[in-house]
Amino acid sequence: MKKILIINSSYRKKNTFTVLQNIRRILLNHGYDIEIINLKDYEVSPCYGCEYCIYKNKCNIDDDMEFLMKKLEECDGIVIGTPVYINNMSGNLKTFLDRTCRWFHRPVLEGKPVMLVATTAGSGLKNTFRSLEEGLVQWGVDIVSEVGRTISNLDKEIEKKEILPFIKHLNTDGMSYSVTMKQITTYQVQRALANNIFEVDKNYWKEKCWIDKIYYRPKKVGVIGKVTGSLLFNILVKNIKPVDKKL
Ligand SMILES: Cc1cc2nc3c(=O)[nH]c(=O)nc-3n(C[C@H](O)[C@H](O)[C@H](O)COP(=O)(O)O)c2cc1C
Repeated sequence: MKKILIINSSYRKKNTFTVLQNIRRILLNHGYDIEIINLKDYEVSPCYGCEYCIYKNKCNIDDDMEFLMKKLEECDGIVIGTPVYINNMSGNLKTFLDRTCRWFHRPVLEGKPVMLVATTAGSGLKNTFRSLEEGLVQWGVDIVSEVGRTISNLDKEIEKKEILPFIKHLNTDGMSYSVTMKQITTYQVQRALANNIFEVDKNYWKEKCWIDKIYYRPKKVGVIGKVTGSLLFNILVKNIKPVDKKL
């Protein structure tokens, strides 16, 4: 049975939680195994910025983050919910994402479908989704849909176009999904950085057989994506200067 992890990053079990519960009900009806994580129930300290995780693949801070990251690795699909705070994601969610920094170098969630959920009094939905996409694309995940609600339409039914891409992705193991140009270009940046900067990243990308590929799943990339991706990668590799970085 496919396993879905739903993350509520609000301190409250209120507006965002209500929408997440509506999504949960639909997913349960489709026979998935669902777990809801309320971030407030876990200890997630702010990132110290020591970069230890980038070199050693493990965080120096002893809190619940490794446990939560394992949960993300083990599930088949992820639903991430946030209230809009100052036109962006909640601080809790940003803190959580900062702590996954090593995945921006060495992605482990590639190809998993993600649904983004945000609630707001009125403003900031677009910016919140854009901000989340900019970050999460580096996890290697497929962001398949966005569900935004204002406090006046919290209980609005979840539309087919909001939920079906997620379900289709899960049921076809991603075959239904078209990789975006944003994913292809982000991949080239990560690939070029792995190639030129950090030895530990380069070894990982080689092990995964990604270092010479145009994308994690090359078959999903069309001709334009292949040409653009190759051009970008070649430019980056020539221009990113190796830096002497040691922990
Ligand atoms: C600190 C804070 C910042 C907020 N910033 C915004 C904002 O920029 N724009 C907006 O329309 N609503 C804003 N809101 C309202 C919340 O986005 C809205 O009430 C949301 O649905 C709360 O979700 P929750 O019940 O899951 O916590 C803010 C609320 C708080 C507490």
